[in-house]
Amino acid sequence: MIRKVVLPVAGLGTRMLPATKAVPKEMLCLINKPAIQYIVEEAVASGIKEFIFVVSRNKEAILDHFDLSPELEAELEAKGKKNLLEEVRKVSRLIESLSAVRQKKPLGLGHAILVAAPLVGNEPFGVLLGDDIVDAEEPCLKQLIRAAEELWAPVIAVEHLPREEVSRYGVISGKKVQEGLYEIEDVVEKPRPEEAPSELAIIGRYVFFPSIFEYLERLSPGAGGEIQLTDAIATMAREGHKIYALEFRGTRYDTGNKEGFVKATVALALKDPELGPKLRDFLRNLL
Ligand code: UTP
Repeated sequence: MIRKVVLPVAGLGTRMLPATKAVPKEMLCLINKPAIQYIVEEAVASGIKEFIFVVSRNKEAILDHFDLSPELEAELEAKGKKNLLEEVRKVSRLIESLSAVRQKKPLGLGHAILVAAPLVGNEPFGVLLGDDIVDAEEPCLKQLIRAAEELWAPVIAVEHLPREEVSRYGVISGKKVQEGLYEIEDVVEKPRPEEAPSELAIIGRYVFFPSIFEYLERLSPGAGGEIQLTDAIATMAREGHKIYALEFRGTRYDTGNKEGFVKATVALALKDPELGPKLRDFLRNLL
């Protein structure tokens, strides 16, 4: 049973500056929900009960967002704003168990996950990155959990992308086990398109077993002095430790950069029953 997730939110969010000077990137809003709420909702819908946030300084707003807000609730109640009150309460009830651990320096995603090791303990766990919002019938994390529980091995999400786009990602090579499922043999971080071993790019959803911590501990800092998660995955695969890649079903939006953020906002708004029709007319006129 996979019931814990680690949410690494200690990065600097430099690609979204100046918005992220004082506001955590994960709190940037798509329509009227901060990005991190979409992520938490996906995890809850995947059966997760325990959330471990890896935070840095100035990220308190993320933890506050999922906490009670007694003054606000009292105010909304007194004014009879029932719908808003319900909305606010729903957010504070999303997470059953929340803990946070500090990553003192942004030493990389791999390092952030290692910092969470004492809170994870000796059981498999999910990892969700706040940049990737996935719109899917079955939540993306749930798809990975199903596969990981069946294979009893780590499973990471990959997306088939056009060759010229894979250079921004870790790209896997592997053996196809069944439709959409691969046993990973190696990972290359940000390859040139012509050198990419496949068109399968790693995105921000993973299910790991505690064995990942041993691999992370063994790594010395790689590119930019950071401990890279993809290095640990590559080492695991090269040493014959079974790790799988699953082509998830759904649409992913990369909200960590300006273009992706705007596209995600427009796509989500067009799907919204209240906003969709009005926005469609507005966009048509604008174009
Ligand atoms: P990114 O490199 O995409 O995010 O890391 P970033 O550093 O926040 O943003 P940019 O690149 O400067 O714009 C992927 C994820 O890993 C977390 C980030 O918060 C993000 O969710 N991360 C990264 C950490 O928690 N700690 C780190 O040291 C690095």
